Amino acid sequence: MANQQKSSWKPGKRDLFFLGMVAAVVLALVLGTSERKTTPVPDDEAHRTSTSRAACMSCHGPQGVYPQSAKHTQVDKCFLCHTQPEKWVGAAK
Ligand code: HEC
Ligand code: HEC
Repeated sequence: MANQQKSSWKPGKRDLFFLGMVAAVVLALVLGTSERKTTPVPDDEAHRTSTSRAACMSCHGPQGVYPQSAKHTQVDKCFLCHTQPEKWVGAAK
């Protein structure tokens, strides 16, 4: 039988190392996504009805009642990072 060698393959050290690497990468990606989640937007009347950055910034701008910290990102799509309130009136993300 010429094909004897093929059917008796067993994982060697290098295969196990490769599988270990794959597992490590998957684990890193999974942990990485959960790290990126941040504080949710509170589910109250003011937050459900604000549908523009300007509306959000009227309270969260430097002059507002609850300013973002100075090191907060300038990215203007708030819901990229903060989860939307459940009954938000704006268009779906
Ligand atoms: C009428 C003023 C007002 C508007 C408009 C407003 N917020 Fe807020 N926001 C607040 C206040 C006050 C708090 C803190 C008290 C609370 O938890 O309700 C807060 C809390 C937050 C928090 C949680 C912060 C923390 O430290 O837990 C996030 C995130 C947030 N707002 C995002 C937004 C986004 C995004 C918008 C626009 C869709 C928005 N806000 C519009 C007043 C406002
Ligand atoms: C790139 C991601 C990202 C975007 C986009 C973003 N935020 Fe945040 N925001 C964060 C992170 C991270 C924190 C800090 C959360 C913590 O410390 O738990 C934060 C915190 C806040 C806080 C609490 C005060 C502070 O600065 O710690 C408010 C209020 C807030 N964001 C409002 C907004 C508003 C309004 C917008 C849209 C104009 C917005 N965020 C867009 C990531 C983002």
